[in-house]
Amino acid sequence: MARSQLIARQSSHPTGPLGHVVARVMAVDTRRLNQRMFEILDPQPGQKILELGSGHGRMLRRIARAVAPGGIAVGADPSEVMRRVARRHLHRELAAGTARLVEGAAASLPLPDAGFDQAASVHTLYFWPDLDAGLRELHRVLRPGGRLLMAFHDGADPAILSKLPANIYTLRPRDAVADGLRAAGFHDVSVPIDPETRRVIATAWA
Ligand SMILES: C[S@@+](CC[C@H](N)C(=O)[O-])C[C@H]1O[C@@H](n2cnc3c(N)ncnc32)[C@H](O)[C@@H]1O
Repeated sequence: MARSQLIARQSSHPTGPLGHVVARVMAVDTRRLNQRMFEILDPQPGQKILELGSGHGRMLRRIARAVAPGGIAVGADPSEVMRRVARRHLHRELAAGTARLVEGAAASLPLPDAGFDQAASVHTLYFWPDLDAGLRELHRVLRPGGRLLMAFHDGADPAILSKLPANIYTLRPRDAVADGLRAAGFHDVSVPIDPETRRVIATAWA
């Protein structure tokens, strides 16, 4: 059955009291995939890592703890509700300066050029209005040699297409995402379906 319009809309941009509930459900829903992403990301002390669409902030908090001392985990999310929820989870890390939250979306990040060793994004790609602009922006904020990881549903999978409302989710085939990554300047692009989570986990280097 297709996810309801209301839940889909809230997943794309959580707002109001329902947004807080959706944040909690989302954290549970995406826990396994975020665990897998965390293992691949393998954050190290001293690294600067961006999480785009950091949502409820659970993954960002783990990253912030792993990059200390000397590193920082920056979460960017356009949803005010999500940033508020994340702020609660991250109060210690924000106070210690090992985490930072900014208002930002894929196409426009209020962040300097070449400032990050790694960037990660889980289940956000569907909500970007412009794939190429988002990928160019991620390339801009990564240092040369920095790594991007993105986890998402493969838009070429018919089972996914029937589950998520097309007026809210822009589902992109993984090959199209790979082409976009190369066009944005990334190299050594791979877009495998992770056998553990059955989601695409794309890797690309700036
Ligand atoms: C389905 S939630 C995923 C949250 C979290 N990454 C996780 O794995 O649980 C999608 C998140 O993407 C954010 N988002 C929506 N549009 C975005 C955009 N254009 N760029 C970046 N993030 C966006 C939403 O606010 C929301 O926090």
